Amino acid sequence: MAKPTVLLTRRWPAVVEQKLAESYDVATNRSDRPLSPSEFREAIGKYDAVLPTVTDKINADALDVPKARTKILANYGVGFSHIDVTAATRRGIAITNTPDVLSECTADLAMTLMLMVARRAGDGERELRAGDWSGWRPTHLIGTKVSGKTLGIVGFGRIGQQMARRAHHGFGMEVLVYNRSPVDPGILAQFNARQVDTLEALLPRCDFVSLHCPGGTENRNMINSARLDLMKPDAFLINTARGEVVNETALAQALMFDTIGGAALDVFEAEPHVHPMLAQCDNLVMLPHMGSATREAREAMGFRVLDNLNDFFTGAAPRDRVA
Ligand code: DGY
Repeated sequence: MAKPTVLLTRRWPAVVEQKLAESYDVATNRSDRPLSPSEFREAIGKYDAVLPTVTDKINADALDVPKARTKILANYGVGFSHIDVTAATRRGIAITNTPDVLSECTADLAMTLMLMVARRAGDGERELRAGDWSGWRPTHLIGTKVSGKTLGIVGFGRIGQQMARRAHHGFGMEVLVYNRSPVDPGILAQFNARQVDTLEALLPRCDFVSLHCPGGTENRNMINSARLDLMKPDAFLINTARGEVVNETALAQALMFDTIGGAALDVFEAEPHVHPMLAQCDNLVMLPHMGSATREAREAMGFRVLDNLNDFFTGAAPRDRVA
């Protein structure tokens, strides 16, 4: 029997590409540039499965293809707010994602950002590389202590919980949680965490706020100027979730007028474009969407897609089916 045809919209770790080719007729986007809308539509008409990533904006138009052949969008990544789920479901296209396998690495990067911005690690490295370091002195590059402070976690799924584990058990932080549904008290107890009902109740109490909720319409601009105003004037905002969760203009204004202590971002609303006002903020650390960027996580994400495809094409229910 002919192997199902699948398209990888970006290059994947070599070991996963090789393994996929054992069971599937695989086409890869050798240029490793995001597909154009017309290339994406062509793919929907041509392949049994398309394996997209966050760089593919899959709206209703992209899926509105006469004689579409694709039956599954097996997304490489946990977040899938770049896919119009309603449009895909209307066309009978299944969607899967890759949870669990990147939770630890993403939480590690959120910790990295929190420490970098609080301890001014970016400032220090830039100074050193520029040859501007004049030596140790008591008033040099003074940052903020992280250990023992209060961390607010917005979104208490797998990644949020890994963040709580690191912050509480590693850094003795007090953990407050905001989550759209009630969190099992047994899970909160693992981190001595307390859940609050609203962001308005969480934000004024935190020294650090770390975002771990999904993106998409529901959470677009969740952190706006009114909510930034609720943060303590020396508190820090960390975003490893999705760029659209934060209103970037409002954040840039808060940073420029020092109404919060600083921010650290791994994700941006119009990636890879960075809002020009953000680029001017000194009290901001920025990384280029690296949350899951370890060999271990990126390979595991690929193998998780493979598991989902194998289930789908053998008639079983893919374990990570989200729609
Ligand atoms: C994820 O898994 O959602 C990462 O952000 C990459 O898309």
